[in-house]
Amino acid sequence: MPYKPTIPLFDLILCISDAIDLINPSVADYHRRIAYFAYQLARQVGLSSHRCREVAIAAALHDVGAITLRERFDLLKFEVEQPSHHAEIGYLMISSYSRFNKAAEMVRFHHTAWNDGAGSVSMGLPVPIESHILHLADRAFVLIDPRKEILSQVKGIVSKIERKSGSLFMPDVVDAFLELSNRDLFWFDLVAPSQDISLWRELDWGTISLEGEEFLEMARFFSRLVDYKSPFTAKHSSAVAVCAQFLAEQAGFPANNQRLAYLAGYLHDIGKLCVPAEILVKPSALSNDEFAIMRHHSYYTNHILKRMGVVDAIRVWCAYHHERLDGSGYPYHLKADDLPEGARILAIADVFSAVSEDRPYRAGMQKAHVMEVMNDLAHRGLLDAHLVQLLGIQFEVISARMLEAERGAGQEYERFVERRGKYLDMLTPAE
Ligand SMILES: [Fe+2]
Ligand SMILES: [Fe+2]
Ligand SMILES: [Fe+2]
Repeated sequence: MPYKPTIPLFDLILCISDAIDLINPSVADYHRRIAYFAYQLARQVGLSSHRCREVAIAAALHDVGAITLRERFDLLKFEVEQPSHHAEIGYLMISSYSRFNKAAEMVRFHHTAWNDGAGSVSMGLPVPIESHILHLADRAFVLIDPRKEILSQVKGIVSKIERKSGSLFMPDVVDAFLELSNRDLFWFDLVAPSQDISLWRELDWGTISLEGEEFLEMARFFSRLVDYKSPFTAKHSSAVAVCAQFLAEQAGFPANNQRLAYLAGYLHDIGKLCVPAEILVKPSALSNDEFAIMRHHSYYTNHILKRMGVVDAIRVWCAYHHERLDGSGYPYHLKADDLPEGARILAIADVFSAVSEDRPYRAGMQKAHVMEVMNDLAHRGLLDAHLVQLLGIQFEVISARMLEAERGAGQEYERFVERRGKYLDMLTPAE
């Protein structure tokens, strides 16, 4: 795919939607379909195009806070236990990117029951009608049985939603849904095997520049969606970004490519959006099946970055960050001749950051031992010996820079944890 300097905002959001749906592929294009549903419902309610657009953005991201496979399965049932957990986590994740502030508020209350009007306020805050629209769209959608013809199910879905008018759902939104449900075309589009995104093209979504500060903010936002799935990886991408940039500088890359290495650090693990948190935080060694799922992540990184249309250098360096010079890496099993220097740098930055951090499956190593590990990997022909040597020479400087980056990312993560409560800690094994 040719490099594009800008990308439509909604295309970028759909890249995230599609990635998070791969955690549980049992319902294809779940977020995309809810976005279509909520958008059509918002139009039927009579919201302005601008507000309909924000509803679609919120809907396309709404379950990003449900990071485990178990939660994803639970959310496919009509009645959900403790739905506020993932809604709150989703809100915190999404609101960290200023452009999505409005959508984040909608996501926060997307399971808030109307409750005879009491649901117009939650936690002392007004609940926007958009949240009630998203709530109905989401819950009505899970009533669809994908194995059956859609129109034969409409009557049953409508009557179930109607019965909950005033209790679970806001009556005005239910009324709009009843109108919408009369349109066969709406249902056909909703369940069409491949969702036609031209359905939304009529709206002006705005674009994201793939250069400059805007893209850096976006890349950081993506890295937080991934890194915050586990306390063990909360600072990982920031550390890899700093290390990769430094090594690129030491290796004599021109300034522009040093910057690309920095961005690649933030984006290299974006494919982990597709990996359930149960696997990312597993305290013991992964089973063969789990490791196979884990190995998918750099493949998906490649796929997601290709769809985004980011510059090829970033995509390739990221996609190959688990490749090794002797062909023993994954998933492409490339060898030295096929691995550009940028990819070698990313691989070293990734390992260096991993062995310097605490992980669930082993205690953090002392800094003194880190170079021993790195040198051993270089010696065995897995990592680039010259780059590892550069790392060794500049060990103190690079460690200090990484620590500083980790401190900043750590503070951000602590604020996130403080607001999120103890939820993720329940996933963390007891000592
Ligand atoms: Fe949800
Ligand atoms: Fe990785
Ligand atoms: Fe990584």
